[in-house]
Amino acid sequence: MGRLDGKVALITGAGGGIGREMAQLFATEGAMVLCVDIASDRNEETAALIEKAGGRAEALTTDISSRSACHQMMEGVHQRHGKLDVLVNNAMWISYDAIPDVTEEVVDKMFGIGLKAVMWTTQAALPLMEKAGGGSIINYASIAALRGTAERIVYCAVKAGVTGITRASAAELGDRNIRVNAIAPGAVLFPATAERLGPEKIELRKRTTPLGRLGEAEDMARATLFFASDDSAFITGQVLTVDGGRIMSA
Ligand SMILES: NC(=O)c1ccc[n+]([C@@H]2O[C@H](COP(=O)([O-])OP(=O)(O)OC[C@H]3O[C@@H](n4cnc5c(N)ncnc54)[C@H](O)[C@@H]3O)[C@@H](O)[C@H]2O)c1
Repeated sequence: MGRLDGKVALITGAGGGIGREMAQLFATEGAMVLCVDIASDRNEETAALIEKAGGRAEALTTDISSRSACHQMMEGVHQRHGKLDVLVNNAMWISYDAIPDVTEEVVDKMFGIGLKAVMWTTQAALPLMEKAGGGSIINYASIAALRGTAERIVYCAVKAGVTGITRASAAELGDRNIRVNAIAPGAVLFPATAERLGPEKIELRKRTTPLGRLGEAEDMARATLFFASDDSAFITGQVLTVDGGRIMSA
């Protein structure tokens, strides 16, 4: 018996590192997984991996920064599945810039994908979740939003905004039995992260993390599953750091 049996779950950024891991875990736990990404090839690969393993998935190529595209996508979900139980807002596009180098284009793009899209998907999902008698929304923030990080002014603004959206939505939607929580990951050790940080910074991160290692996509997927499932039935408006305790380090 899976913890998401009978649930329909939509995950944005399902072609990416954490998104794919979540999509696969949710399918293993019995959910019908709707994989959403702008990168159709990687997204279809995620859905194919799930189906190959015996799970149920659908790949929906969508640019979530468009309000109308989000509403159109949810309309399709309504027609095919009749409801939505779980929404994970995980997609992101990042440019790391020092303050003097920040451009209007970068701000608009990062705000569009990381912040505005969270409002559009939430707005579009509401009627479907109400139909399901409630639901769970999980938004991806970052510890960067909570501790502040140099050369991440736009990223920190977006992710701090995500924590605000999470609490505001939780306050507004509780009476409809819709819970809204956020995950704030620390660094996840993907090959690209290893390349960007280099061996010295990785060693430093490990030393300054109480649990002595960087995160893995599976750590994020398991924490997200907790919020998606009824195990967290009385929890809403929370931001859970999943970082091995690094937030406590100076
Ligand atoms: N990886 C980390 O170390 C880390 C740390 C803290 C927080 N996070 C957060 O976790 C989440 C997932 O991170 P990741 O490392 O798996 O990212 P990733 O870059 O691997 O995946 C992000 C996905 O979002 C998709 N995407 C981008 N723009 C889109 C759009 N307009 N419409 C639809 N999809 C779009 C991309 O195509 C990509 O597949 C992000 O919100 C990120 O900010 C990650």
